[in-house]
Amino acid sequence: MNMSTTIESVDDANSRAVQSHVLSPRFYTTDFAAMNRIDVSAVREEWDAVMQEYEGDNNQDHFQRDAEFAQELAQSQAQWTPELKQELLDFFVSSLTSEFSGCILYNEIRKNVNNPDIKQLMTFMARDESRHAGFINQSLRDFNLGIDLGQLKRTKAYTYFKPKYIMYATYLSEKIGYARYITIYRQLERHPELRFHPIFRWFERWCNDEYRHGESFALIMRANPHLLSGLNLLWIRFFLLAVYATMYVRDHRRPILHHAMGLDSTQYDYKVFQITNDITRQVFPIALDIDHPAFRAGLSHLVTIAEAFDQAKAKKGLWARVQQGWHGARAAVQFARLFVLPVKSQTLNAKTILRPTW
Ligand SMILES: [Fe+2]
Ligand SMILES: [Fe+2]
Repeated sequence: MNMSTTIESVDDANSRAVQSHVLSPRFYTTDFAAMNRIDVSAVREEWDAVMQEYEGDNNQDHFQRDAEFAQELAQSQAQWTPELKQELLDFFVSSLTSEFSGCILYNEIRKNVNNPDIKQLMTFMARDESRHAGFINQSLRDFNLGIDLGQLKRTKAYTYFKPKYIMYATYLSEKIGYARYITIYRQLERHPELRFHPIFRWFERWCNDEYRHGESFALIMRANPHLLSGLNLLWIRFFLLAVYATMYVRDHRRPILHHAMGLDSTQYDYKVFQITNDITRQVFPIALDIDHPAFRAGLSHLVTIAEAFDQAKAKKGLWARVQQGWHGARAAVQFARLFVLPVKSQTLNAKTILRPTW
């Protein structure tokens, strides 16, 4: 664990959630008037099918603990090392922050638009994300580390994104969220003896919500094809890289967590990239070449830079600040080098909707 502080108290947990740095999950706001003008009539049939699935709400009763939860937790917890516990808590805080970030954004859009399609979609997605956030928060409360969501909503910084950036970023974070949860779920399905927290049993039905959220954004983009061509391809490339690189660096700070599941952070992340690349065929005409040796080397170089940055950050004084600036600049250069690597072109699927088969 390379985090500069550990989570020991409820204040630590809350301040970890409110932190804003390059790697922490953010809260977003956008141009609601532009959101209000989104037209999905070009994909009406598929749109209505997805809305019907939301309406059916097959996860209505899912986010409740069962009778075995507490006992399973008590048994597992006895086996944790302090390092594993810290990485698990960090995983909970950052996952909760991402879930709650979606909840706030979707709710704000819902309140500020009267376009019936968008309003309906945002109502469903905010419903799901609020369940997800609440469910993770219960697992923090088991350690008296519950996050005060009202306080977090008021105090965390918000990043403004134009609607098209919201589309790219949110589509990707929903799909990568699906890929992350399903990869963990499948691994622990094969190795139940490695399931060191009962929450992982919830991941399969949970990630279907995320998957569906991603489908909705894919449909919006397919209905507005200018978002998927011309100069916007550069934005898509940028967001793909930003989302992949952030996940990679963040996950490499939790090697013990992945190891406890029988996974290695690098192997796990490339599996997640592969699934996400496969899914994005429904909407993005390009994909990152994740097997390119320079891509792999570039990402692992970013991890080394992030570690050097952390070490400088842990020190005090002018020299440490100079070092932080230097490592920040190195990271920016490395990111730019990754950005100019060749990408792969792909032909979009005829239909947007894609069944989750992973
Ligand atoms: Fe979620
Ligand atoms: Fe979601």
